[in-house]
Amino acid sequence: MIKIRKHLKKDIPCRVKWLSNPNVNKFIGDELGQKTSLPKEKAWFDNYNKDKNKKFFTICDNTKPIGFMGLSNISKINKNADLFIAIGEDDYRGKGIGKIVIKWIIDYGFNKLKLHKINLGVIKDNVAAVNLYKSLGFVIEGEMKEEVFYKNKFYDFLSMALFNGKKNKKL
Ligand SMILES: CC(C)(COP(=O)(O)OP(=O)(O)OC[C@H]1O[C@@H](n2cnc3c(N)ncnc32)[C@H](O)[C@@H]1OP(=O)(O)O)[C@@H](O)C(=O)NCCC(=O)NCCS
Repeated sequence: MIKIRKHLKKDIPCRVKWLSNPNVNKFIGDELGQKTSLPKEKAWFDNYNKDKNKKFFTICDNTKPIGFMGLSNISKINKNADLFIAIGEDDYRGKGIGKIVIKWIIDYGFNKLKLHKINLGVIKDNVAAVNLYKSLGFVIEGEMKEEVFYKNKFYDFLSMALFNGKKNKKL
């Protein structure tokens, strides 16, 4: 059973494993395909604990952590935030879990944090992610051509967004 809990310090080793997984980091980060390390993720977590504008959650199969997701740059003024998700364990992708948990965090963003808009960035070739976001009502707001470089090729990058209220028909 899929469960969502607070992102905790004990998840740091999982963050290192997941973010260093080539099946994950080929799609995420400012620079694709880069591994992370324990010191980097400890530093990330220390900053996270001080940052009131970030809310992250660990996705679990019962008690087993399988990935994480969160909202960053939460702006009370603009009423928006940036969505991030990574299912880090290879056996758990493509099984409908992403859809379930993103619905949960959208509900959290719109109904708990009272956001107006949820933004995200995604590599255009990340078909699973783009399809998933579109199926939940996210729309493409912009496209940056050849924005990221990975394994000798440039990739286009999409900005997508979901609005609270009447424009959000798919939830
Ligand atoms: C992107 C990600 C979160 C999607 O989660 P998931 O659990 O694998 O996706 P789901 O099984 O819930 O699939 C949801 C929808 O995505 C689409 N999808 C999933 N896998 C797909 C694939 N390999 N090819 C095409 N579409 C796919 C389907 O349309 C599916 O909707 P439907 O079956 O209801 O029509 C997950 O694969 C992941 O963490 N990938 C690595 C990191 C990453 O890319 N993060 C996002 C960065 S923006």
